Amino acid sequence: MEVIILENADAVAQLGARRICELIKKKPNAVLGLATGSTQIAMYQHLIRLYRERQVSFRSVTSFNLDEYIGINPENPQSYRSFMKRELFDAIDIDRENTHLPACENNVNPRKAGSAYERQIAAAGGIDLQVLGIGSNGHIGFNEPTSSLVSRTRVKTLTETTVTDNSRLFKEGEFQPHLAMTMGIATILDARRAILLATGEQKAQAVKDAIEGPIAAMCPASALQLHERATFILDRAAASKLQNTAYYQWVHSENTPLVEKYGNFYEIDG
Ligand code: GLP
Repeated sequence: MEVIILENADAVAQLGARRICELIKKKPNAVLGLATGSTQIAMYQHLIRLYRERQVSFRSVTSFNLDEYIGINPENPQSYRSFMKRELFDAIDIDRENTHLPACENNVNPRKAGSAYERQIAAAGGIDLQVLGIGSNGHIGFNEPTSSLVSRTRVKTLTETTVTDNSRLFKEGEFQPHLAMTMGIATILDARRAILLATGEQKAQAVKDAIEGPIAAMCPASALQLHERATFILDRAAASKLQNTAYYQWVHSENTPLVEKYGNFYEIDG
């Protein structure tokens, strides 16, 4: 695992966007795994800037989002499809046909919808880079604590913590879904590379459990310890409960000349 601790949230967003661009430059038809949440909005703003500066084009990129709410339709402004359209897709040149979110319409068997999404990912050649955020309870996607570490795309019931955390985004009286269709933890671990962005003190405990705690279903993000190429990009506040901060910073400074000489692992084929 690579742990990068940066000065502030904007630096985290910037590095996340840069990593995506590096990959697309190397592989213009890259398959991206995308996420929602406020942490990602900041990162998408940098991606849009880089696109406008003509530093990157998404023309041949395919994307698969981590999750989608069940109980509201895709046109609802609260859906993750609407979020992605508003925060990213409408501002870049990605082909809408190549953007995917897990969906489970009324009357569709969720098991069938889940395995269909897995098949779509496989047919696209698998995910090259999965971008992740983290819930204050350690969730990735909507894999809530106690999610199976070998889970695949399926329906999850949100925890009270998640419903409360996300309630800030819903108006009073507005329907807030408590079910979601999410990639599973095994789906996420299948991605060839993974970056998790976390900012703010409210993520500090989850980040600590994910990086320095045991691999445990109680902290789904800890499953990334099993990933060969996972990077945590954190601001100081999100890193504030880590014990080995000095070591991570030392590793980062030792790695910098190596990366300059040989390139980072984003440049490794495969
Ligand atoms: C939602 C999403 C997660 C995301 C989390 C954190 O619950 N399903 O994928 O990581 O929010 O969001 P934020 O960045 O807003 O804290």
